[in-house]
Amino acid sequence: MAPQLTVHTLVLFVIFGGNVLLKRNFDSRDNVESLHESAECVQKTIEPLMTGDLWRYWDRFAYIVNKCSPTLKDVELGSFPNTDEFKYHYLPLKKVNGCSIVSLGIGKDVKAEKKMSSVMPECEFYGADPVNEDNNELFSAFGNFYNMAVGDKNGSFRSYVLEEIYRYQEVATIDLATFLRNNVKQKLIDQLMVDIEHAEYPVFPFFEENGQLEEWGIHVCQINIEIHSPTAEDRQTFATFLKKNFLNHQWIFINSELHPSFKHIRLFMVNARSRECLQRYFVKNEKTKNKVTKRRKELDEEEELLL
Ligand SMILES: *[C@@H]1O[C@H](CO)[C@@H](O)[C@H](O)[C@H]1NC(C)=O
Repeated sequence: MAPQLTVHTLVLFVIFGGNVLLKRNFDSRDNVESLHESAECVQKTIEPLMTGDLWRYWDRFAYIVNKCSPTLKDVELGSFPNTDEFKYHYLPLKKVNGCSIVSLGIGKDVKAEKKMSSVMPECEFYGADPVNEDNNELFSAFGNFYNMAVGDKNGSFRSYVLEEIYRYQEVATIDLATFLRNNVKQKLIDQLMVDIEHAEYPVFPFFEENGQLEEWGIHVCQINIEIHSPTAEDRQTFATFLKKNFLNHQWIFINSELHPSFKHIRLFMVNARSRECLQRYFVKNEKTKNKVTKRRKELDEEEELLL
């Protein structure tokens, strides 16, 4: 019996020892711990469902996000209604000097932006839509409008528009990072609202660790995104994004909704990796801020050792 016991002991050691190594010790103060606990809760619940045709995880995603949503202290969540949905935005902890809010895909509906503008007069608004008609006029009343389609590539496409008569029109397309760098020209984006009719799928890699935004030093703090009815490939794309996110907890999912028949997902998520964003929205005092900064550095170093 003795040799068998040894084998078991060894196996147990490998399992638990491995877990200890992989388990990150996230910061235990303020909201940071809650943010990471929420990410772990989502991972634990959803990973087993990521099998087969990937409908199981898709169908449960919004429910799980809402169940695992973090409980945060001393932060105020603003909700801003559009015609048929809500956009969410955590209000900054302290008065901020500047603020940038970007809308991709206006869809002739600027109610949420207008409400945000009245609650947060310090914010500048930037909007883009391939359709100029109405969107330009509506958006330009309070922000900067760009008649372009923002996605993952530069180029142009032909769209069929009604301007007295129907005719074709060339519309410029631009990748998200270039749009933020060249048009918006801000390094910190407080809120990014994305409703770009399926072009969101190839945009997910921009949000990832070492993605184009990070490479160019652009921090996006909060995102409201509409993830349109998926093909099999789209479900895979989003699953890949989620799996990468399980490793580094870059994005914490706060609120989600699944359309019962069209199956699109609305998702509100916040950036828990950007120090700038954490300080602005989640971490309270200076003392804590410095500790978090130091702890984050340690975490990053630990991570490098693990990779
Ligand atoms: C789009 O063009 C800009 C230059 O204007 C370039 O920096 C960027 O890499 C291009 N994007 C893609 C995806 O090729």
